Formats: sequence, C-alpha cells, structure tokens
Amino acid sequence: MEQTVERKKRIFSGMQPSGELTLGNYLGALKNWIKLQDEYDCMYSIMNMHAITVRQDPAELRKRSLEVLMQYIACGIDPEKSILYFQSHVSAHAELAWILSCNTQMGELSRMTQFKDKSKKHADNINAGLFTYPVLMAADILLYQADLVPVGHDQLQHIELTRDVANRFNFHYGETFTVPEPYIGKTGARVMSLQSPENKMSKSDPNPNGYIWLLDPEEVIIKKFKRAVTDSDTEIRAGEDKPGITNLLTIYAAVTGKTVEEAEKEFSGFGYGNFKQAVGEAVAAELTPVREKFAQLQSDKAYVEDIYKKGAETAAKIASKTLRKVYKKVGFVAW
Ligand code: TRP
Repeated sequence: MEQTVERKKRIFSGMQPSGELTLGNYLGALKNWIKLQDEYDCMYSIMNMHAITVRQDPAELRKRSLEVLMQYIACGIDPEKSILYFQSHVSAHAELAWILSCNTQMGELSRMTQFKDKSKKHADNINAGLFTYPVLMAADILLYQADLVPVGHDQLQHIELTRDVANRFNFHYGETFTVPEPYIGKTGARVMSLQSPENKMSKSDPNPNGYIWLLDPEEVIIKKFKRAVTDSDTEIRAGEDKPGITNLLTIYAAVTGKTVEEAEKEFSGFGYGNFKQAVGEAVAAELTPVREKFAQLQSDKAYVEDIYKKGAETAAKIASKTLRKVYKKVGFVAW
C-alpha cells in the first residue's frame, strides 16, 4: 500500500540574547514554543547576530547567549524534538541576508516602527545593520522554508515584510520560498510590569520589582508579587480600569492553564494580600523546576555544547539546500 508521508509544518522562532529572560518571555513566547514541539518541526535559535545591531559587551553577549540557550532547554524546549542553535553558527543566514537585501527597498525598511524606535533610543549608533535588521530576520525564516513563525505583536510588521520579500523573490525568480505566516498563540499572554502595569514586563525596567526574572529564587518571586501595585478598590476582577489586578489574573491564568474568568471566580472574596500571595506561589511553583534544570545544565557544559553543535549542523544542512537554490535562481555560477 502506498504511504504518503506528510511533512510536518515547520516552525521557526528565536530571541535575541540582549538581556535577561523574564516571566513575560516565558508566558508570552516560550510556553507556546514548548507546546508546538509535538505537532510541528520546530527550530528555535538564539539571534546573536541581531543582538549586535545595538552595542553589546562581547564577554556579556557570549555568556548571555549560552544562558538563553540553557533557559530554553530548562523551560522545556526538548533538543530531541527541536533544533536549537546559535544564529552565528550557520553562515547561510548572513549569505541569504545579502541576496534578500538586494530585493528589499530602502522605503520599506524606513517604515519599520522598530527601526524608528531603536534609532531614537540609540541615537549615537544608528548603524546600517540596525536598518537592515528585518532583512536578516527574513533570511532566518526563509532559509528554513518555515510555515509558521510564533512572534509577539511587536514583530508582526517584520513578518509582513518577510512575506513581501518572499513573494517578490518568488515572482521574479520563480517559486523558491515558502511564504510564512505569523503564529499568535492562544495563551500568548501579554505580561505587564508588576510596578507599572501600563508597560510591558521588561528586563530593562529600572525597577527590578517590576519584572520576574526566569531564575529568580522562590522567595524573591513571592516578595515581588506581594509588592505588585494594585488599586484602591478591593474587587478581584479584570477590566481596563484595573490594570494591576488584570495583569495578576492574566499571569495566574497563564501559569495554571485556567481562564481569567475561572481565576476571578476562584479569588472572589479574597483580600488583595492573599490574592497576590497565591499568584506569587503559583508562579514560584512553575519556575522552581526551571531554575533547578538550569543549575543542572550549568554544571554540564559538555552536554550543552553537544546540543548547540548538533543543532547548528542540522540547521546548516537545511539552510544550504535553500541557499544553493537561491544562488542558482539569481544566476550565480554553480561550483
Ligand atoms: N526580531 C525578533 C525579536 O526581537 C527576534 C528574531 C530574529 C526572530 N529573527 C527572528 C523571531 C526570526 C522570529 C523569527 O523578538
């Protein structure tokens, strides 16, 4: 009997190792990535080439890149199921980025809101890489013929550009790239600062009480939640007029897999103090195994090295297939 082997759809995503990972990264992205591993062919990379579009301390970047990889694994990205690697280990990213940059317009790149924001923030270093950042991102995705790209809302414009560039290339040179779609997960919770819930939880928050670091110890997590800002009301419900409480309910729901409505019911009649304690405990319970696994990985350098080397090898094989095809299409002499 004939068997049709259907290729699983491919997922590609990554994060820049430009800061510490927070509960926001975990609930907004990583938890989704983990769930996708069974259903899809997943590749998760550490985007260290993107990171240097803003000034980085080299020793810090190296250390943080390894830590981000270990945090991916500690959270539950399984190297047996997913391909894990550093972007800089696969030279095809830079090579394809060049070809794509010759198929991307200055005008398109000038419209990118992230470029405009970052130019304001780093006015002393508006380098060409910062401008062509989205082209490198398109190369990341198109190299692997990814079908879906799990990203946050802030990256949708870059995915749209990737699609435009892919379509344009396919039109001029013939069918070459899979045109990817963004994937916005159902539980892609938007986690806000515990101190200023109108802002996204971020590692660049000057007040460390605003964010939960993925590796914060249990007592620190609980203390930070106890200090979380609420309001002068006493009611535990979600609503635009209650950003602090809404954020805590969202976090609790995302961690426990419940809905916000279920969380509201569970805490009805609770005082804010007990509510915050309960959310803190739930988060601590979720992150304790992550912290433990991270510590274990830190003491097993050889295992970690083996993962990213194998990951790069597998990624490079897939990437070189696409790159060869692209070189041929644009008219480079075969070698
Ligand atoms: N720009 C993304 C961010 O800052 C990181 C990134 C780089 C990425 N290349 C990617 C995400 C490819 C998804 C796919 O979040």
